[in-house]
Amino acid sequence: MSFVQCIVAATLVVVGSSAMASGEETYQTVCANCHSKGVANSPQLGDSSKWAPLIAEGQVVLTAHGYVGVRAMPPKGGKPDLTVQGFSEALNYMVNKSGGNWKTPNGKILKDIEAEITRRQKGEKH
Ligand code: HEC
Repeated sequence: MSFVQCIVAATLVVVGSSAMASGEETYQTVCANCHSKGVANSPQLGDSSKWAPLIAEGQVVLTAHGYVGVRAMPPKGGKPDLTVQGFSEALNYMVNKSGGNWKTPNGKILKDIEAEITRRQKGEKH
């Protein structure tokens, strides 16, 4: 690779990664408004005793229910254009800072989350 090609490639990598918000960035810009301070009794980042029973619900169920909204927790964290993947990565970040050890959601997990969201939106209890 020439020097110029190398610079072009490096620039593309930087531009590409800034266009895709990471879980931490989404947490900081969306979720932290409430979850950094425990606003309205939201489980606070790092409060492992509050997060433990939520984490125990599992990644698919907790992500789907949070995305749809639970009591004072607004759907999509109050950001209407937040994708399932974006929400999931932000939650993954919060969970792993609060005593959990979840993996970045992959295609299979995202599909299961989508299915659970549909069930939840239909009002099926389980
Ligand atoms: C406007 C404030 C607010 C914002 C913004 C917010 N949350 Fe919440 N969240 C809450 C509150 C309040 C609760 C507690 C709900 C309850 O149990 O009554 C909560 C609960 C949750 C829960 C637990 C749901 C359950 O099943 O009990 C998850 C998961 C969650 N939030 C994820 C997120 C994520 C991820 C984001 C950012 C994308 C986010 N929240 C942004 C207020 C907020």
